[in-house]
This record gives sequence, C-alpha cells and structure tokens, in this order.
Amino acid sequence: MKDFIMNKAMEKLSAEISEYRLGHTLRVAFLCVELARLYGVDENSAQIAGLLHDNAKDMSIEEMSKYAEKKGKPLSEDELKYPAVLHSPLGALRAKYEYGVDDEDILNAISSHTTGRVGMSDLEKILFIADMTEAGRTFEGVEELRILSRESLDEALLACLKRSIGFVMEKKQTLWEDSARVWNWALGNIR
Ligand SMILES: [Fe+2]
Ligand SMILES: [Fe+2]
Repeated sequence: MKDFIMNKAMEKLSAEISEYRLGHTLRVAFLCVELARLYGVDENSAQIAGLLHDNAKDMSIEEMSKYAEKKGKPLSEDELKYPAVLHSPLGALRAKYEYGVDDEDILNAISSHTTGRVGMSDLEKILFIADMTEAGRTFEGVEELRILSRESLDEALLACLKRSIGFVMEKKQTLWEDSARVWNWALGNIR
C-alpha cells in the first residue's frame, strides 16, 4: 500500500461524501479493524477497505457511468439494472485511481460489499458484515448479527446475506442475479 496516505485520503473522502455517510464510514472502518484483529486479517487493509467502501455512494448514476467510461470500464446494461449495487464496483475503481489503492484484496472487498461474491476472502466477509452491523445500525435482529460476527465469520456472513437478500425481496426490488450463487457458495463453505 505504498501509495495510500491516510491523511490525504481522509481529506479527500470528507470532501466527497456527506457528513452522514462519513459517520457510517468511520463506524464501518472501526468495526472492520476489530473483526480483522479477531480473525487474523491484516488490520491496515481492513481499515482502508472500511474507509473507502462507500466513496462513490454520493455520485449520481450519470457521474458513475461517465467515470467508468473514462477509465475504460463502461457500465454494461446488466450492471445498470442494479443501481443500488453500482457504487461498489465504482468505489473500487475510484479507490484504485483516485486513492492509489493497489491491493487486489482491498479492491475486491470494496467491489463486493453490497452483494458478496463467490469466493470472498476473509477481508471481503469482514467488510460485508461490518457494513451491515456497524454501531449506527438499529434494525431488528442487528444485535444477534453482532454477536454471531464475533463467534463465526462464516455463519455471520450467511446471516448477513440472508438479511440483505430478504431485504431486496421485501422491497420488491430486482435481485442481483448472482445472489443465489453467492448464497450457495457461502452455505457450502462454513468453517
Ligand atoms: Fe455501500
Ligand atoms: Fe456502507
């Protein structure tokens, strides 16, 4: 992570995202570090992944489209079907080009933090779980998820996937097509 300078990144991030989102971001980063320590994952990577995970969330779809195109990775029609997911791959792209993050594991974690991914690393699982269970979350059942996240990373991932997939269904939103694959993979890979 030779190019990542924390102070500069914080300054840039504060200018790019809302105060509300900055609060969420800091709580996610804090929890990422805590879970990383618990599960033997690099704490510095966890902190960076947490801090940058929502860096693109305040961009409009149009801004995201333009940015992706500029970087030679135009958004496909398929991707545009899931506007709520877009800020994750875009966030990874921006983490690389705007924040100098060159670590694939961190970039994957940012990219997969909304949907999960088949073959997620422990860092990816930690960010996914921390995003859902950070101290500012108040939904029913969050406390059980917090307890589970300290007992088993894989069981907690499964429970968080269940909640996020269920949430999409409850809201009658289009389910990301790979969600079933991610679920089946997570179910078959509990340690
Ligand atoms: Fe997000
Ligand atoms: Fe988030």
